[in-house]
Amino acid sequence: MLPSDGSHPPIAAPLPNVDTERLELRRFEEGDLDELARVFSHREVWQFPYDRALSRDETAAFLETQIREWDTYGFGCWIAIEKARASVIGYLGISVPAFVPEILPAVEVGWRLEPAAWGKGYASEGAVAALTEAFSTLQLDEVCSLPQAINPASAAVCERIGMRLERTIKFPANDRRGELDGLLYKITREEFQPC
Ligand SMILES: CC(C)(COP(=O)(O)OP(=O)(O)OC[C@H]1O[C@@H](n2cnc3c(N)ncnc32)[C@H](O)[C@@H]1OP(=O)(O)O)[C@@H](O)C(=O)NCCC(=O)NCCS
Repeated sequence: MLPSDGSHPPIAAPLPNVDTERLELRRFEEGDLDELARVFSHREVWQFPYDRALSRDETAAFLETQIREWDTYGFGCWIAIEKARASVIGYLGISVPAFVPEILPAVEVGWRLEPAAWGKGYASEGAVAALTEAFSTLQLDEVCSLPQAINPASAAVCERIGMRLERTIKFPANDRRGELDGLLYKITREEFQPC
């Protein structure tokens, strides 16, 4: 097992890049800023939790955080590239849900795609790949997901990939938003059935 700072369970090995049928899923790189800023310029992408687009500077800060977290933990969300168009459509995968301290140590699976990529099954396809890696390569026992209570499209991805709703939960306020109502979904290695 690789050492953990206590914010997540120990992992057996770092997360690799992965290809699915329709997506290339890889670590964020410094050179992703232009493509990511294009995706984050759509208000809908950050409707939950901010209800506005992200600026280029905010996107750059986000990108730096992703790269640093992956270096720290040995895993993080992948940037998602649609193979058919060789174009970035957003990001998804596993990360530490540091915004909800009460459930740490934990690993969360999440997704955030541009509107043109919705309704095609991409979030579920990538999330299944993330759970596969979490339970095989990383050898985690359990993964959670934390959609906002007012985001049914995100909760539907949880249901689609076989996660079970455990309870409602509060996301504490931070310097960018107030307290939010969320849903705590979970899935164990035994419950996960990759399709
Ligand atoms: C949350 C989000 C990722 C959900 O995207 P999504 O496209 O609805 O989810 P999926 O990838 O699971 O796709 C499922 C849909 O694709 C359809 N679909 C079409 N082709 C498909 C295929 N080949 N395989 C599977 N599903 C397919 C399904 O029927 C389903 O449509 P429906 O909802 O009308 O029944 C998306 O709304 C999003 O990025 N929102 C903004 C960011 C956000 O809120 N993130 C979560 C923060 S908590």
